[in-house]
Amino acid sequence: MSDESGQSAGAKVNTRRLHVITWGCQMNVYDSTRMTDVLAPLGYAPAEAPDGADMVILNTCHIRDRAAEKVFSELGRLRLLKQAREAEGGRMILAVAGCVAQAEGAEILARAPYVDIVLGPQTYHRLPEMVARASRAAGAVIATDFPAEDKFDHLPEASAPSGPTAFLTIQEGCDKFCSFCVVPYTRGAEQSRPLGAVVAEARRLVALGAREITLLGQNVNAWHGEGPHGPSTLGHLVRALAEIPDLARIRYTTSHPRDMDDDLIAAHAEVPQLMPFLHLPVQSGADRILAAMNRRHTAADYLRLIDRLRAARPDLALSSDFIVGHPGETEADFAATMALIERVGFAQAFSFKYSPRPGTPAAGAPTQVPEAEKDRRLQALQALLREQQAAFNADCVGRTVDVLVTGPGRRPGQIGGRTPWLQPVHADGPDGLAGRIVRVKIVAAHQNSLSATLLPHPQEQERTQA
Ligand code: SAH
Ligand code: SF4
Ligand code: F3S
Repeated sequence: MSDESGQSAGAKVNTRRLHVITWGCQMNVYDSTRMTDVLAPLGYAPAEAPDGADMVILNTCHIRDRAAEKVFSELGRLRLLKQAREAEGGRMILAVAGCVAQAEGAEILARAPYVDIVLGPQTYHRLPEMVARASRAAGAVIATDFPAEDKFDHLPEASAPSGPTAFLTIQEGCDKFCSFCVVPYTRGAEQSRPLGAVVAEARRLVALGAREITLLGQNVNAWHGEGPHGPSTLGHLVRALAEIPDLARIRYTTSHPRDMDDDLIAAHAEVPQLMPFLHLPVQSGADRILAAMNRRHTAADYLRLIDRLRAARPDLALSSDFIVGHPGETEADFAATMALIERVGFAQAFSFKYSPRPGTPAAGAPTQVPEAEKDRRLQALQALLREQQAAFNADCVGRTVDVLVTGPGRRPGQIGGRTPWLQPVHADGPDGLAGRIVRVKIVAAHQNSLSATLLPHPQEQERTQA
């Protein structure tokens, strides 16, 4: 998040301090920046800490267990700050946003009556009105409906300078109803933003300094936004974005294997700005469990897809999500997941113990896997994934790589950036390179990052549009 001066565009003088705490996926990160944009015209500027803030927003995640408990313990801490502020004659508006707000809004107000605003992910364009109501009256304001109007039509244009990397939400919600997942309930039905709106926002982000844009959606590759000739496809959108001068890198996440169409696979071969890294969650390698999960593809379908993607883009690195201990998962099913991992070779991955979510079909299944067994499987799976990640990073040593500089590195006199495969890189280098693409030689690999030396003449990578 940018500092206060970054928000002071326009005539309005910033006088109020806004602190936002964000949990969950990148869509929540994007939503937090958009909530900040919505509140800027009211005079709210970002504050680094909640102490003395005029407003604090908790942007919450409901995907796994204990998410709500984390929110309540944070609220307990904020209550004291809010009381301290009131003792000084001030006011702190406390808002809970995001997926816990959507799923448990009423419970939040019952357990934490000092919360002023509860708002779901689809209603944050109404924040100014909610803040006005909360400022006037005692009692909480709650907005957890799925409004008929599109929040994107009611959001102001992004105005704060972006860093070299930016997120852009193009698709929201989900109609897939995997057995374990709360997203279809917290984010609502699948919805795509129109092509023109996405391209316009991307152009603004690039004008504000972005060199890399990550397109976001819970099912981003199911995007089918309206274009000039009817519904479009993600492959088409990627090609349209590749026309934007100075947009050097394009990524998209998260994808579902079923929505990976021919045109998108071809875009990986044909669009140099589309980075050779793909997060494609498979969840399990066992067909029985994939069926129980309602994923509607088999392990073989996934492997075929990977082969086609690698044929299109041989240097493509892969990432995935895994769940161990879904109801009904046997030792043999788990072995099938391990075999799939061995077969694919992942550059990185996220893995979780199955966490029963109230209201989802799997939560009520009688065949829950004991906690100790889930622990054991997760440890084995993570050990294998760590090995693969270390091997992938080690393989980069000695190679010359183009790195997008995102800012300073870990130590003074260092730059930090990321490779095309999303690995963080550190190298000795001067200030002022943020936003540039520099060529480095990788000299050492670590579990989650790489060390490099900057090659003598940092050069701006030419746009190599075919
Ligand atoms: N739309 C994406 C995933 C969104 S949620 C997809 O379809 O792949 C991000 C990840 O959280 C999921 O991929 C899954 O691995 C994990 N997850 C979701 N619900 C979970 C649950 N109940 N228990 C454990 N992990 C879960
Ligand atoms: Fe959740 Fe499945 Fe939708 Fe992904 S595809 S958001 S896991 S329901
Ligand atoms: Fe969490 Fe909601 Fe994202 S549940 S993962 S913040 S869609």
